[in-house]
Amino acid sequence: MSGDGLIADTRPITGEGHERLKALMNRGTELLGCEYAILGGAMSWVSERNLVAAISDAGGFGVIACGAMGPELLDTEIAETKLRTDKPFGVNLITMHPQLSELIDVCAKHEVGHVVLAGGLPPGRAIDRIKESGAKLIAFAPALSLAKKLMRSNVDALVIEGMEAGGHIGPVSTSVLAQEILPHVSKDIPVFIAGGIGRGEAIAAYLEMGAVGVQLGTRFVCAYESIAHANFKKAFIRASARDAILSVQIDARLPVIPVRALKNNETERFAAKQREVADLLDKGGLEMAEAQLQIEHYWAGALRRAVIDGDIESGSVMAGQSVGMVKREEPVAAIIQELVEEAAAALGSRG
Ligand SMILES: Cc1cc2nc3c(=O)[nH]c(=O)nc-3n(C[C@H](O)[C@H](O)[C@H](O)COP(=O)(O)O)c2cc1C
Repeated sequence: MSGDGLIADTRPITGEGHERLKALMNRGTELLGCEYAILGGAMSWVSERNLVAAISDAGGFGVIACGAMGPELLDTEIAETKLRTDKPFGVNLITMHPQLSELIDVCAKHEVGHVVLAGGLPPGRAIDRIKESGAKLIAFAPALSLAKKLMRSNVDALVIEGMEAGGHIGPVSTSVLAQEILPHVSKDIPVFIAGGIGRGEAIAAYLEMGAVGVQLGTRFVCAYESIAHANFKKAFIRASARDAILSVQIDARLPVIPVRALKNNETERFAAKQREVADLLDKGGLEMAEAQLQIEHYWAGALRRAVIDGDIESGSVMAGQSVGMVKREEPVAAIIQELVEEAAAALGSRG
């Protein structure tokens, strides 16, 4: 195996492998309207006009992250993305965003074709309004029961994201979620798998299990087209899987959604922030909902410091465990092509 992360398998890449890949991704590519059913998972501050357009242009499916945006910024971001690509792309909305309704209006105004809803079970009204706008709705399903509930709400596709992923995560690994959910729903609804995917062989395996496509975040951070600060990219290139650790919850009353990020000083600061918020809860100076919102805002600020300002010591360097497979800065098209070739080679070698 070459140690540099280039295609390690020397078996010839057969046309058969590519055909098989195309067939397995067919429901995904039909739904998304792109060449490869590879979603560029929305990453706050990173997934903006440049990276999103580049992913869609390279045959994947870019998704704008608007967790840290209000309606006006999203309006501009969609317009700017449209100037950079004529390929389809999506918008990621966070269900707990206080301006969710206005953000849906902005997507409708721009006739965004696909909305990806993250951050908890979406309110029924939001689902209806997105569907009424004509957009396809893709939602995160953290468990089989919730996948079935979302299917009853008429969402068009599901994302299953395991705890290997970067950013906010659930408690269960991708491989277990895939086994728990795919066999029961994959015939009835297209499912995309996310979390810990760094190479095409893993894409091939999840497709063979019934997924119609995948979503990757970490692998796209160091694309040339990504505006992430050089320090942020260097931290990714240096890191190995074990450096991408989980945030620690320090107060049982304050359940914080775990975040996976590279270990640094910020890990300590987050503990201090939780203590501060827990103290305010103790003194009755804060309601629980407000306490959780403060924690969420804290993350958005910490991620911005790292991604935009390059402060990788006191900012949050959110990264998934696949960070060990990020070896260099390279064009998005090269990343997607490598993943596709690896997946096709794996499928072609099955015989
Ligand atoms: C830096 C970073 C920021 C992220 N921000 C968001 C976000 O704002 N909204 C969201 O739904 N997912 C977010 N994610 C998760 C990605 O969309 C994607 O699902 C995940 O990265 C896939 O797993 P991987 O990191 O193992 O490839 C983020 C991930 C990273 C690494």
